[in-house]
Amino acid sequence: MTRRAFCGSMAGTVGLATLPVRAAGPQTLTARVATAQIAPPQYAATEVWTYDGAVPGPVLRVPQGGRVSRRLVNELPVPTSIHWHGIRIDNAMDGVAGLTQEAVPPGGTFDYDFAVPDAGTYWYHAHSNSFEQVARGLSGALIVEEADAPEVDRDEVLVLDDWLLNPEDAQFMTPFGHPMSLSHGGRTGNLLGTNGTYDLASGVKANERLRLRLINASNARIFVLRLAGLEGWTVALDGMPLPEPQPVEAELILAPAQRIDLIVDVTAEEGETAALLRFDDDDQWQPQARFPVAGQASATRRDTPAALPPNPRMEVPGIDSARRLDMVMEGGAMGRMSGAMMNGRNMGFREMAGQGQFWALSGQVGMTDTPFASLDRGETVRLRLTNDTAFPHAMHLHGMHFRQVAGDGTLGPMRDTILSYPDELLEIAFVADNPGKWLFHCHMLGHAASGMTTWINVS
Ligand code: C2O
Ligand code: CU
Repeated sequence: MTRRAFCGSMAGTVGLATLPVRAAGPQTLTARVATAQIAPPQYAATEVWTYDGAVPGPVLRVPQGGRVSRRLVNELPVPTSIHWHGIRIDNAMDGVAGLTQEAVPPGGTFDYDFAVPDAGTYWYHAHSNSFEQVARGLSGALIVEEADAPEVDRDEVLVLDDWLLNPEDAQFMTPFGHPMSLSHGGRTGNLLGTNGTYDLASGVKANERLRLRLINASNARIFVLRLAGLEGWTVALDGMPLPEPQPVEAELILAPAQRIDLIVDVTAEEGETAALLRFDDDDQWQPQARFPVAGQASATRRDTPAALPPNPRMEVPGIDSARRLDMVMEGGAMGRMSGAMMNGRNMGFREMAGQGQFWALSGQVGMTDTPFASLDRGETVRLRLTNDTAFPHAMHLHGMHFRQVAGDGTLGPMRDTILSYPDELLEIAFVADNPGKWLFHCHMLGHAASGMTTWINVS
């Protein structure tokens, strides 16, 4: 029976009148404890915190312009909330506990329901005590599909992560916020993996064309990646399409929370293994995900792919007359900061450290009652970021995407998270077109929890 005949007969037998009427409750996403075999088989399974029992959580797919509608059911022993990273979302749905909603207590629920204006690769993760909850596994991919998607043989979501496990029992090392990691580069794992396993392998065919959606869900690791047996193009960053596909010629840098969409062709031959490689802590290239090749998709390679269709509101006009803001990142180990304002009073670095705080943004440690900036809805803003610390930081703006302003005034790709290196001066620009209270923070989640979090207000 052909597929068409099958569909036809289905349509014939299931008329509207015969559809069962059921009191359909909302679709749920349940945060709960589970176990997962993320380490090699000779190790025990790890107790993890999950959405719907899986690490990473289920891949949510929704058409562009559609809605995500999910009831968070909290079966964890602690309060939680979900942030939909990179979605230019209605502020009330942003999921930031303590700013846009109350954390959902154990046993409680919260109904998330929002429109997704932009196609692309996004992700969702806990936003209550994120440095612990995300490290325990509370994240997943959110894919917003183009109406007019590029032609590929397969669409693969690759959630890159690392886990810090005790090699004795394969359970998470605690505390999650160790002062040593908070004040340095953040919590980086001793086990790396993709889609919840240390050794992801996915069979491909020679000359097959794949869309790879890379998501860095780790707490603090900057992935340095390379393709082997694959040739391809970067087509989107942080969900937002590039105007032209860019051939992957050098290493790809994927900072925490960032995404890269690739379209790749399998150039390895049958019997070989293509791979996404990462530059490892021991200075070796290691497979982050393997693609063993069996069979052939076609005899020849295809043409360069077309650009993805652009998303709405991708322009950042009025750069020259934009409001200018300045932010200095300070603190951390080996830094120059002597102290900063915390809870309304000036504190020395030592005293801050005694309270588990190590960082400041423009002299302020963590959240303040008044926002870092109050912006008028629709205005263009330029924000200069000075990294006066000894560490890189992945700075993330909620609710709006921005573009980097180069020294000559040209604008870079649209992103929601930008990596800032020590002693680097960066400038970003965005249109403050989304009203509400939006976080701006380092996505090295331990840094965010120890000083590097502030917010802006758009009204
Ligand atoms: Cu993905 Cu406030 O974060
Ligand atoms: Cu940081």
